Amino acid sequence: MKMRNKHRKPTALRCDAGSRCSLSFFVWSLVGCILMIHLFSLLKPKSYEREPQVRLNHLPVNRELEEVEEENIVFHSRSRRNPRSSKRKTKKPSLIDEFLDESSQIRQLFFPDWRNAMDPMKMAENDSMYFYPGRIWLDTDGNPIQAHGGGILYDKKSATFFWYGENKDGPTFQAHKKGAARVDIIGVSCYSSKDLWTWKNIGVVLRGEKYNLTHDLHESNVLERPKVIYNDLTNQYVMWMHIDDVNYTKASVGVAISSSPIGPFKYLHSKRPHGFDSRDMTIFKDDNNKAYIIYSSEDNSELHIGPLTDDYLDVTREMRTVLVGQKREAPALFKHMGTYYMITSGCTGWAPNEAMAHAAESIMGPWETLGNPCIGGNGIFRATTFFSQSTFVVQLPGLPEYFLFMADRWNPADLRDSRYVWLPLTVGGAADEPLEYSFGFPLWSRVSIYWHRRWRLPQGWQIPRPNYRLG
Ligand SMILES: *[C@@H]1O[C@H](CO)[C@@H](O)[C@H](O)[C@H]1NC(C)=O
Ligand SMILES: *[C@@H]1O[C@H](CO)[C@@H](O)[C@H](O)[C@H]1NC(C)=O
Ligand SMILES: *[C@@H]1O[C@H](CO)[C@@H](O)[C@H](O)[C@H]1NC(C)=O
Repeated sequence: MKMRNKHRKPTALRCDAGSRCSLSFFVWSLVGCILMIHLFSLLKPKSYEREPQVRLNHLPVNRELEEVEEENIVFHSRSRRNPRSSKRKTKKPSLIDEFLDESSQIRQLFFPDWRNAMDPMKMAENDSMYFYPGRIWLDTDGNPIQAHGGGILYDKKSATFFWYGENKDGPTFQAHKKGAARVDIIGVSCYSSKDLWTWKNIGVVLRGEKYNLTHDLHESNVLERPKVIYNDLTNQYVMWMHIDDVNYTKASVGVAISSSPIGPFKYLHSKRPHGFDSRDMTIFKDDNNKAYIIYSSEDNSELHIGPLTDDYLDVTREMRTVLVGQKREAPALFKHMGTYYMITSGCTGWAPNEAMAHAAESIMGPWETLGNPCIGGNGIFRATTFFSQSTFVVQLPGLPEYFLFMADRWNPADLRDSRYVWLPLTVGGAADEPLEYSFGFPLWSRVSIYWHRRWRLPQGWQIPRPNYRLG
């Protein structure tokens, strides 16, 4: 006891014999504070009420997150520039130009080379389980992971994570002068893992089509952002993806199914959902097994959201437009304590831009924009989503307070060498900008994505064991 007292910090309010006034002032302030907190909690959305109010800040796992890192980038201006970036010569080069310039002297900062690849099979004990966003990431065979624009399915039956994404392991080229940088369709890769860090290559579970020119998956077309969910009614794994032609005029969604998470997936069809153009998209399976599709529409000016049919193979007629005029893409949805959240990016092609977090009481909207969720890593990092674009948010089984944000650091000069930026995401604390109708009280919690050069999942976390019933 003595030891503890010795090290205790002096309290701010010292009440000696002569300061009864300040003591009563303190007591009344405390009462006032409690009333304010109570009022504040009444104004919060109803769905919070029944949930346990576990603040992540009190958990030891979050202590590391609060120590966000600053990136100090030394910016050298240079006389000689890559001919490909000569178009931008007149403008003062920005860090984003530098990022897009293959011959940039600071390229190593954004695209570190093989020397420090993340190799879970070789990383020493002290470096085990650490994520290094932006580094080359090797699978258990020692090959760079090819799962871009991807998403993760947690398969309860096998207690395994499956990561699906675009296999872009081919040459990058432009189909014509005005075309965007592209890689011919190879297919959708699948990787499996028990710890989200060590990934085994399962292979291509939905293949591109080499010969049939009229097929959606013909290699000259576009297949982006594949996502897989499990249907409990049909016992099928259902994959949705963005299907397009080389000029992005088809703007459709495609559907494929498999009876196993490791495929092979059978391609069914593509369509324009609700009759609208659809580009970046994702699907989301809610707690009640209802699934939804969310896609950028009306030339990426707004998002559309609507429930899927019970078998997840089609859209229903119900649809709402959300974030109208906000020009968002790359949606990644998740749910926390009854509230829906979404991370989106702006529309600037392969170039990175500022992420936004959005929240809604009902998945069908209305959706409110909360602001930029990125924290740390200096201004330019926050303004570019750490030089990446959102693709998915994973909720850790057994740790509902903890989310993993997945993003792609696209490399338009060589798309197969695009990197993965995975970072911890939490929901908690007040949103930056209180909304007008909430009387100045922030109605939503803040969504925070923390920059870390090196980080790991909460120590000791593992996939919960299946509950065995005691006989
Ligand atoms: C791991 O860290 C400990 C303590 O910092 C150190 O003594 C040890 O040498 C490290 N081991 C390796 C393999 O780097
Ligand atoms: C080519 O693909 C189209 C569209 O999927 C299909 O209708 C047609 O039967 C295929 N042709 C061949 C020869 O497989
Ligand atoms: C794509 O656009 C280019 C240039 O406008 C055109 O030559 C080509 O035929 C178009 N391709 C398709 C599949 O529409």
